[in-house]
Amino acid sequence: MRKKFIAGNWKMYTTASTAKSLAEGVAKGITDNAVTVAVCPPFPWLSIVADALQGSPVAVGGQNCHYAAEGAYTGDVSPQMLLDAGCKYVIVGHSERRHGLNESDLFLNRKVKAATSAGLSVIFCVGELLAEREGKQTEDVLDYQLASGLTGLSKEAVSKLVIAYEPVWAIGTGKVATPDQAQEAHAFIRKRFAAQFGDAAAHTLVIQYGGSVKPDNARELLKLPDVDGALVGGASLKPDSFLAIVRAAV
Ligand code: PGA
Repeated sequence: MRKKFIAGNWKMYTTASTAKSLAEGVAKGITDNAVTVAVCPPFPWLSIVADALQGSPVAVGGQNCHYAAEGAYTGDVSPQMLLDAGCKYVIVGHSERRHGLNESDLFLNRKVKAATSAGLSVIFCVGELLAEREGKQTEDVLDYQLASGLTGLSKEAVSKLVIAYEPVWAIGTGKVATPDQAQEAHAFIRKRFAAQFGDAAAHTLVIQYGGSVKPDNARELLKLPDVDGALVGGASLKPDSFLAIVRAAV
């Protein structure tokens, strides 16, 4: 049995004080390890949130990182910096960076390698655009994103991966994938992962669904055989809605 993993992606929302109270609100509602839970705040609040979560099972993640260990990269953050700030996870390849900021597959692959070798677990996002789904290219897109983004990873790196299937048309739109669409894509990702890294790695791989996950649709998605959790954007910004999604995973 794979343990369910619910992560909140706060994107570029919250202030220092709302981030702290949101973290405290989440921590108050999570008292056991039945579900793996993490929150990914904006960079400036990482230490504030990590402090607020001291002693709680809720982990912290960064929303992005650079592949270099250090250097002249204005505005960027290294994997080690995230670890120092208290992070266990980092999101790599979110569509808002792939499509919004033109991050290439090669660039994402370097980040995955650097982050996993530094000791972070990577939530690697994949997903098709609406036009790609309508053009029946979903599997080709997933296949390419997995092949290129995850090429050349060590066994150790593979064990630190979580995949988030996030159809781009479902992110922030209120249009959630149907259970059939989600299950089909997740099963394909697991099969593809098995071909790339072996059956055992695919069997233990946690695959989150992301894109308009809310308290009222979470249960239906989280009970699907290949849906092992959720990457939650909008609904992670309030303790009540985020905690309701965590409860739906139990
Ligand atoms: P959403 O975002 O839940 O607001 O659709 C999900 C994500 O972008 O990770």
